[in-house]
Amino acid sequence: MKVTVLMAMTLDGIIARSADHFPDWTAPNDKKFFAEHTRRAGVIIMGFRTFQTLKKPLPDRLNVVITRDSSRKSSWNNVVFTTEPPRQVLAWLESLGYTEVIVAGGSVTNSLFAAEGLIDRIIVTLSPKIFGTGISLFTPEISMDLALEAVERLGQNLVVRDYKVLQTVSR
Ligand SMILES: NC(=O)c1ccc[n+]([C@@H]2O[C@H](COP(=O)([O-])OP(=O)(O)OC[C@H]3O[C@@H](n4cnc5c(N)ncnc54)[C@H](OP(=O)(O)O)[C@@H]3O)[C@@H](O)[C@H]2O)c1
Repeated sequence: MKVTVLMAMTLDGIIARSADHFPDWTAPNDKKFFAEHTRRAGVIIMGFRTFQTLKKPLPDRLNVVITRDSSRKSSWNNVVFTTEPPRQVLAWLESLGYTEVIVAGGSVTNSLFAAEGLIDRIIVTLSPKIFGTGISLFTPEISMDLALEAVERLGQNLVVRDYKVLQTVSR
C-alpha cells in the first residue's frame, strides 16, 4: 500500500490559519489537482477536524475519517469514521483492494501516520501566500528526511513538489 500525504501549503509552510479555517484560500487549479489525485486513488483519509471544516464528504471517493470518539456515526455511504490506529486502517483498506491512499490532513492526522513511519511520499502544492502563523504540515514531534522527486509548475502561480520520505523520527 502506497501512502501519500497530499496538502496545500503556503510559502511559509502553513496549511491553515487555525483548526477551523475553511480551506477557501487555494486556487481552482490546486483544487483540480487535489481532486484528480484523490479520485485516482479512490480513497482519502482525514482527521475529524478537517472533515468538520469540509462539512460534507468529497464525492466519488471513500472518505475515511480518523476520530477518537467511537460514538460518531456516518450518515453518508462514502464516509467511514474509525477509531482504529493508522496501521490497521491501512490494512483494512488494502483488504478492500486499494493500492494507494491519500492522507489529506490535517496536521494531527498526518502526524499519526508519520509517527508510525507509514508515509511513503509527500506532495505539496505551494500557494503564493504567507499566513505568518497557523498549523504546519506535521506536529512538532515529527522530523523527516526527504528526497525531492519532482517539481512542476501548475499555471501562473502554483508549484507542485513531490518528495519521497527517506526517514521519519517521532520524538
Ligand atoms: N491545506 C491543506 O491541504 C489542508 C488539508 C487538510 C486540513 N487542513 C486544515 O487543517 C485543519 C485541521 O487540522 P488539525 O491538525 O487541527 O486536525 P485533523 O488532523 O484534521 O483532525 C484532528 C482530529 O483527529 C482525531 N484524532 C484521532 N486520533 C487522535 C489522536 N491520537 N490525537 C489527537 N486527535 C486524534 C480527533 O478527532 P475527535 O475529536 O473526533 O477524536 C481530532 O480532533 C483545518 O483547518 C483544515 O482546514 C488543511
